[in-house]
Amino acid sequence: MTSLFQQIWRTVWFRPRLTALRIRNVAVAIAFCLTVLYFLYRPSSPSESVLLERHMNTGPPLHPFTLVNSSVNWGQVKYRHPARQRLAQLPRPLEAPLPRVQHRFGKESPEARKTREKRRDAVRQLTRKCWESYRKYAWKKDALLPLSKGGVDQFSGWAATLVDSLDTLWVMGLREEFDEAVAAVAEIDFGNSTTPLVNIFETNIRYLGGLLAAYDLSGRDVLLQKAVELGDLIYGGFNTENRMPVDNINLQAAIEGSGLVVESTVVSASPGTLTLELTRLSQLTGDPKYYNAITSMVDVFFRGQNQTVLPGLFPMYVSMLRGDVTTGSTFTLGGCADSLYEYFPKMHALLGGSDPRFPALTRGFMDASKRHLFFRPMVPGNDDILISGNANVDQAGVLHLDPETEHLTCFIGGTFALAGRLLGLDEEVEVGARLTRGCVYAYKSFPTGMMPERLNMIPCEKNKPCKWDEAKWETERQKRPEYKPHLPKGFTTAKDPRYILRPEAIESVFYMWRITGETEWQEAAWDMFKAVAEGTATELGSAAVLDVTVAKPQLPQEDYMESFWIAETLKYFYLAFSPPDLISLDKYVLNTEAHPFLRPHPGREAGLL
Ligand SMILES: *[C@@H]1O[C@H](CO)[C@@H](O)[C@H](O)[C@H]1NC(C)=O
Ligand SMILES: *[C@@H]1O[C@H](CO)[C@@H](O)[C@H](O)[C@H]1NC(C)=O
Ligand SMILES: *[C@@H]1O[C@H](CO)[C@@H](O)[C@H](O)[C@H]1NC(C)=O
Repeated sequence: MTSLFQQIWRTVWFRPRLTALRIRNVAVAIAFCLTVLYFLYRPSSPSESVLLERHMNTGPPLHPFTLVNSSVNWGQVKYRHPARQRLAQLPRPLEAPLPRVQHRFGKESPEARKTREKRRDAVRQLTRKCWESYRKYAWKKDALLPLSKGGVDQFSGWAATLVDSLDTLWVMGLREEFDEAVAAVAEIDFGNSTTPLVNIFETNIRYLGGLLAAYDLSGRDVLLQKAVELGDLIYGGFNTENRMPVDNINLQAAIEGSGLVVESTVVSASPGTLTLELTRLSQLTGDPKYYNAITSMVDVFFRGQNQTVLPGLFPMYVSMLRGDVTTGSTFTLGGCADSLYEYFPKMHALLGGSDPRFPALTRGFMDASKRHLFFRPMVPGNDDILISGNANVDQAGVLHLDPETEHLTCFIGGTFALAGRLLGLDEEVEVGARLTRGCVYAYKSFPTGMMPERLNMIPCEKNKPCKWDEAKWETERQKRPEYKPHLPKGFTTAKDPRYILRPEAIESVFYMWRITGETEWQEAAWDMFKAVAEGTATELGSAAVLDVTVAKPQLPQEDYMESFWIAETLKYFYLAFSPPDLISLDKYVLNTEAHPFLRPHPGREAGLL
């Protein structure tokens, strides 16, 4: 080194005639190297999520608070039916990462960005309006009454809208609002309820899910402390003879620990939708008891999956009392069952692929629903779309497709696309797209631009060309007791013509956008947003609409704003118009109430993220 350096030194400085030239050459070379280095490592502007993190977490909370413990210490209850001594431990995430979920988005053109940001601002503005009204007229109530300017409790009175909205406020960068809401959370008493029975499903998805996600995003300890209080109450729902969960927790019996009685039948989504939240709670606390509680229940579903009359699918009603998930003849992916299925691939994501039961459950239900529940409807434009209907199996074992679908079922397109990516089954992403287009089609077809809560269409015959036949449509619809002459072509009923601020259609559109990057989905999202924002608008915010099948200057509305409007619907709209790194699906898995939970790093201890 020294000799080389000396050589250069001598060459440059001790040969006066050459010096000027050499200095210039060296300078040019250095300038060139610096330019190359700059372009290789130039500081890129921080991503959306980094900026948001800084904005939301810099300095102390804007609303100081003190944690008030719930009046019952749920962690101290002595159970009549405790868990076995040896608890099942969380499996360690696989060493190899699961396949990538999100599309690799390229650079956005300035025009595209301008349009997107304008749309996003519109969503944010509406959300602020709804939140402000909740704050003013229904603070700490479960829901806002958007017409009568009041509030109502329907989920134990623990401020459902407030807890459900926390992560939406965070994602939208509403720092002041978020900090104020966190301070309110610190005072919630999960030891008392406005009703003697606490619904385990709603409590789990809205409250526990809301607290866990807000904690995952913000790291505010008080949110995890409250999540543990509530998680321990839900955990008390497993204080039963066979350690299967109840559907409704009797609060007094839970306080006494005297044991709960499992209902003889429940909708399958009720037990099936406890898995993600309780697993996340175990991951975050390092206490395996919550995960242990759900894992034997998952076994009941796993062992039963191929034993039903439609192997792969579970009947709408199951008996956790008898541990029987196979008896029953009605099948749907809609209400009563929906999130049971949704959570199979999501558990696969949350566990980092470490439990082979979940991919098996996922493949099983996907194959069976393609075969037995999905149909292509006969529509005027012969669009290649899919609808998810219901199936009944009669005494003779013959399957009857009931071509009825509901808004709740619209989540399934997104779930197919997500599962398709996670399991490396790309053809399922296309099935997800056709299912999602089915819901987008329904939105577009009605004069208000909104899809009714429940409707019927006419299935095309399988594996035959599917041509629009108007005479057939006329005959079919007139057979229906719910016949209404004004319905758009292709629809035979709108059995429940309301739109109650539901998220499932935009949820799937959001997944399709993030997974495929096709602009078709952002356009669909914008059309839906315009229709929904306008149709549900009230002075205070948004209200459910009673009939979306008739366009009127002022649609008849219901005096109710569900907590999932801010928690889910507006969040999905917002994310559909956000840079794709905000709540990336490769980093988070969203519960059925749109609450994002951090996914584990491959190979890392599950609790230590
Ligand atoms: C609140 O509960 C926590 C956890 O059980 C406990 O450590 C703390 O002492 C309690 N605080 C009060 C004021 O009781
Ligand atoms: C729950 O609240 C009700 C009404 O506010 C009250 O009468 C009752 O004593 C409370 N129960 C507990 C366990 O704090
Ligand atoms: C159920 O059936 C499918 C398809 O035949 C199979 O791949 C899967 O392993 C079965 N599941 C169980 C639990 O036996």
